[in-house]
Amino acid sequence: MSTLKIENLHVSVKDVEILKGVTLTVNEGETLALLGPNGHGKSTLLAAIMGNPNYTVTEGSIFLDDIDVLALPVDERSKAGIFLAMQYPSEIPGVNSADFMKAAMNAHREKPMSLFQFYSKLQGAYKEMHIPFEMSNRNLNEGFSGGEKKRNEILQMKLLEPKFALLDEIDSGLDVDAMQVVAKAIGEEQEKGRGFLVVSHYARLYDMIHPTRAAVMVNGRIAVNGGPELIQKIDTQGYEWIRDELGISIEKEEQPMNKVSIGVCATREATKDK
Ligand SMILES: Nc1ncnc2c1ncn2[C@@H]1O[C@H](COP(=O)(O)OP(=O)(O)OP(=O)(O)O)[C@@H](O)[C@H]1O
Ligand SMILES: [Mg+2]
Repeated sequence: MSTLKIENLHVSVKDVEILKGVTLTVNEGETLALLGPNGHGKSTLLAAIMGNPNYTVTEGSIFLDDIDVLALPVDERSKAGIFLAMQYPSEIPGVNSADFMKAAMNAHREKPMSLFQFYSKLQGAYKEMHIPFEMSNRNLNEGFSGGEKKRNEILQMKLLEPKFALLDEIDSGLDVDAMQVVAKAIGEEQEKGRGFLVVSHYARLYDMIHPTRAAVMVNGRIAVNGGPELIQKIDTQGYEWIRDELGISIEKEEQPMNKVSIGVCATREATKDK
């Protein structure tokens, strides 16, 4: 069984420390739910695991079994079995979706696939994700709707068959039917024994994919570890109990805007006599 092990990870963005000592382990075959208030470092953690160069690791380690992940460039991390479905997938003008998938899949193999083999896999995955196959001819994510981008991320996960999939708010922007499609696809990969680190704010997705454990990130650290019951607690009570029960204050970002804006005054004026 493979293990993705993150220890005492410190990560900075533009010299501001965002992650302040994250320790987290995900085993193959389990699904870890990662929750936490906005802006507390969840996406930063996933980006650092995948190797986004905007995020500088200043301390700590990430190991996939005995592989030192931090020593590898992004493509080698992918080949080692790590996959990231991004919170905001980028639009890549000029890169055809099918060409992109073929290049990515072939990069993971010693010998390139035959065109027939590639197209039958590609068609199968589009069908399973309920994405019209014509979309494989469009440029990657260019002009895709929010939900199409998210389904396209899961399509890539299915085709690349990673050991560990990091899913960052994969449920945002999905309609009810698309959510079912995505949850089913995740379920099939769970059955194959993949490990998942899933970031979401809502119990709805988690109810469909049944995480084995949950963790809460606050102020760039894992403040709470627990079972899936943590998800329900957060869904009903929010995060304030972390401060009350654990004495961890939840740092809020400074709000530099003026409290009263012209818009507020104008609205008051317009609604004064109503
Ligand atoms: N590339 C960047 N440049 C500047 N600041 C950044 C960058 N990436 C992240 N940050 C800052 O790091 C902090 C953590 O951001 P992150 O995206 O990891 O939060 P999050 O927990 O994923 O939040 P959310 O739930 O809203 O997605 C935020 O204050 C954010 O503004
Ligand atoms: Mg995020």
